[in-house]
Amino acid sequence: MAKPTLISGIQPTGRLHLGNYLGALKNFVELQNSGKYNCYFFIADLHALTENPNPKDLQSNIPNLGADFLAAGLNPKKSIIFVQSKVPAHYELYQVLSPLMPVSELMRMTAFKEKVLQTLKLKEGQISSKEDFEKAVEESNFGLAAYPVLMTADIILYNAKLVPVGHDQLQHLELARTLVRKFNNKFGETFIEPQPLLTNVPRLMSLDDATKKMSKSRPAGCLFLDDSPDEIREKIKRAVTDSGKEIKYDLENKPAISNLMLIYSALSEKSLKEIESKFKNKTYSEFKSELAEVVINALAPFQEAKRKLKPAAVKKVLVDGSKKASAVASKKLEEVKKKIGLLI
Ligand code: TRP
Repeated sequence: MAKPTLISGIQPTGRLHLGNYLGALKNFVELQNSGKYNCYFFIADLHALTENPNPKDLQSNIPNLGADFLAAGLNPKKSIIFVQSKVPAHYELYQVLSPLMPVSELMRMTAFKEKVLQTLKLKEGQISSKEDFEKAVEESNFGLAAYPVLMTADIILYNAKLVPVGHDQLQHLELARTLVRKFNNKFGETFIEPQPLLTNVPRLMSLDDATKKMSKSRPAGCLFLDDSPDEIREKIKRAVTDSGKEIKYDLENKPAISNLMLIYSALSEKSLKEIESKFKNKTYSEFKSELAEVVINALAPFQEAKRKLKPAAVKKVLVDGSKKASAVASKKLEEVKKKIGLLI
């Protein structure tokens, strides 16, 4: 029996942080190494364009993410590792799928609405008026709204059955499934419906504000995979804590300490209970110093592997992987063109 195909991508929008690593990359490596899947992992650079990045940044973020993939353990002998924009079939299938997608459904996507709200610099519940929001929707870019259509193309080009993603992407996958059904009904069985592959990943919060998600937009509260030991010590030392002194996992009453404990647990394979007993009668500051060393040690092999990677070697992996992906994707695209009447 052929192994099921699995695909996922990450946008090259900046340095990866611990939340990205624990939420995505670490999981990709485990899925790859399980040997159970035919894996594709890609750099979603066309998706990154929807944020209108500065070309210099984008150009350095692409190989940097490629290096992150390899340093974390993705292996071109086991997975097809590629760059989305290097596989033209993604643009083409996106164009083919677009007419099947009602604009109203795209406007209803939570991720899209959140992006619009971000541009308004307002949070849900604080929108001054429905009109403001609607105006921001009209002014937002078309690529952002059409994002899930491109994402669908990414997945179904490879007949991927499984898509490891976070909860924030479930709605996009549901839309992908709807689009597949629509296409198949109209043109005959062509694509398979992809399923999300959810794994239990910790949701990391910002070190400087435990009510906000860890994000590169709050650098002081964000542990980047490339941070030096001193930066890590400093950020953890400055991390907010809660009132009281106990090291106890209690998301409701002790969100900041609970977040730090989650990081400790994820990187040390110790359970939250074990951490509680290890730090019984210890101070916040003792716990924090130990946590800093846990983070530094956990990141050391990644950082060491990344330092050793030569840019030309990373580029070669990406170019070779993109060729392999293109071979699969263009075959699928030919089948699609035939079905819809585009072959001459
Ligand atoms: N939308 C995903 C994210 O922001 C990235 C992505 C683009 C993706 N295309 C994909 C993930 C296809 C899985 C499959 O995290």
